[in-house]
Amino acid sequence: MRKSQVVIIGPGAIGCAVGSALTEAGHDVTFCSRQPFERVSVEKVGGASTLFPARVVLSGKDVPSADWVLLCVKAHQVPSAAGWLRAATGPRTKVAVLQNGVEQRERTEPFVPEGTTIVPVVVDLPASRAAPGEVTWHSRALLSVAESASGKEFCTLFTGSFVTASTTDDLITRAWAKLCVNAPGGAILALTGQPMRVFHKAGVVDVARAILQECIAVGRAEGAKLDDALVDRQIEIFLKAGPDEGNSMYADRMAGREMEWDARNAVIVRKGALHGIATPVSAALVPLLAALNPSSQAGDAA
Ligand SMILES: NC(=O)c1ccc[n+]([C@@H]2O[C@H](COP(=O)([O-])OP(=O)(O)OC[C@H]3O[C@@H](n4cnc5c(N)ncnc54)[C@H](OP(=O)(O)O)[C@@H]3O)[C@@H](O)[C@H]2O)c1
Repeated sequence: MRKSQVVIIGPGAIGCAVGSALTEAGHDVTFCSRQPFERVSVEKVGGASTLFPARVVLSGKDVPSADWVLLCVKAHQVPSAAGWLRAATGPRTKVAVLQNGVEQRERTEPFVPEGTTIVPVVVDLPASRAAPGEVTWHSRALLSVAESASGKEFCTLFTGSFVTASTTDDLITRAWAKLCVNAPGGAILALTGQPMRVFHKAGVVDVARAILQECIAVGRAEGAKLDDALVDRQIEIFLKAGPDEGNSMYADRMAGREMEWDARNAVIVRKGALHGIATPVSAALVPLLAALNPSSQAGDAA
């Protein structure tokens, strides 16, 4: 195996989990962080854990030039990571974007030199961060990328680690299928400020159904293969979830942090408009989600 120089921007739940996997696989890993930590520990619920010393940099001037940059900040945090991207991306660097949503490439392109290889990654690795450098993950650690030479190279990085990375010839479907979980689940929990039990309250599944239908219609127009039965399957999953379970938009809302509503909900409206598809329910929810953002509340209009 060739040892690669990997720079992780955003050492949160996903950044620490994949950084730990890449350290386990024998690569040189550097975390670009806003706060110091000395070790990265990743524990599988009911399973094994890994603990490695972490190389953490707090300033762009200390970032090595990377073979691979893994951008693991949340979607709305990408502009704030511009300095890190500039510092870590040289002529041979490839940038993998590990984020929810379907716009990983568009979101990152403005912040890397023209011609940089960008690899969008669909992440199926339920994880949470307890403290800087401390992560717990549950049940599966899967990454999907499009079939390509750089996609294959990305997957090879994880050989010998607890993460399974694989290529697919239909990343569009995978990304939109994930959005069909995130768009209704995130918006409804964030707006109501209630965990999964909220789906049992009158009318809530109807809102979820409407968001799902809009997401499916727009996803299909974008080339995703999504069948109508997905609506009932997803509603059943929401109804069977543990009553106190949350999701990341809910966790961010409860903690008073900015939320990923643009990448998960506004995108449906944005892409729907491009295809002439009406998305009235998402369009109604987006300003409400935007109004919950701390920055919006700080700048309240009179
Ligand atoms: N966690 C999951 O289970 C999961 C599963 C699938 C997909 N995803 C997706 O993966 C992406 C990452 O999610 P996550 O759960 O890992 O989020 P997270 O735990 O909030 O991690 C984001 C990290 O980025 C850091 N960060 C933000 N801006 C930064 C900047 N300018 N410079 C340096 N660091 C910066 C944050 O640091 P601070 O602590 O300083 O704020 C935080 O450590 C999201 O798109 C999410 O939707 C997550």
